[in-house]
Amino acid sequence: MSDLPSTLDFISHRLSTLLSSLSPSSVIHTLLLLVVVPVLVMIGNFLIPKDHVCSRTAEYAQPNSKLWNAIVEFGAYPRWRSNITRVETNPPGHIPPDGFEWFREFSPRGDMNMKFRVIERLEGKLLKREIVREGGVHFSGSWTIELESTGENSTRVTITEKARVHKALYKVMGLIIGYNKIIDLFLMDLGAKFDQQVIITDSMKVQASGEKIREKSGKSSNKMVLEE
Ligand SMILES: *[C@@H]1O[C@H](CO)[C@@H](O)[C@H](O)[C@H]1NC(C)=O
Ligand SMILES: *[C@@H]1O[C@H](CO)[C@@H](O)[C@H](O)[C@H]1NC(C)=O
Repeated sequence: MSDLPSTLDFISHRLSTLLSSLSPSSVIHTLLLLVVVPVLVMIGNFLIPKDHVCSRTAEYAQPNSKLWNAIVEFGAYPRWRSNITRVETNPPGHIPPDGFEWFREFSPRGDMNMKFRVIERLEGKLLKREIVREGGVHFSGSWTIELESTGENSTRVTITEKARVHKALYKVMGLIIGYNKIIDLFLMDLGAKFDQQVIITDSMKVQASGEKIREKSGKSSNKMVLEE
């Protein structure tokens, strides 16, 4: 909650800048916005949980080793990932003080970068990278990237994001934009690297519908008929 006032400040500032450049009739609209938007953000702050889990999956017509190598070669990310212009990695052979290998991703607007550390690594199976929270980073959390061979030349890749958003405005934005967007872009880019279009599905839905069925089967059969 402590970050709410600064969010409201930010919005009011933006809106008052707008206000000065508008005609009288739009001033009324803007004033309405001045009230409505902060109220929405406030409601959003109460309703949207801080933490979220999002899991997406896609299958590739590639052997496990090829995908694994692409995923762990952080320095080569700019060659195939959208909106990653540069990646810094810890110098080879140099073990960081905390013992975790790290890399830093830079986005096109030079000022934006985020540092990650690899907290779990099982060759050909699992890579878990965690956000290193530095100044100006309003998220914390991790991606667990899991690989599962479904054939000699086919592999399923699942990315599960467990994250916490520390600023109210980002929570609202996250909900509007969709937490899956960045994961889906990664999975799509990975396909494009191998000249392949992939179908991305939500691996949470599979679990969720399984739960629903179990829930349903616990109810009386009459109710089930009514529901259908
Ligand atoms: C890359 O970033 C820009 C600006 O942040 C955004 O408009 C664009 O949609 C992004 N591209 C992709 C493929 O997400
Ligand atoms: C997998 O790919 C290799 C190399 O292209 C090929 O020789 C092999 O027959 C493929 N295996 C299957 C099961 O398709």
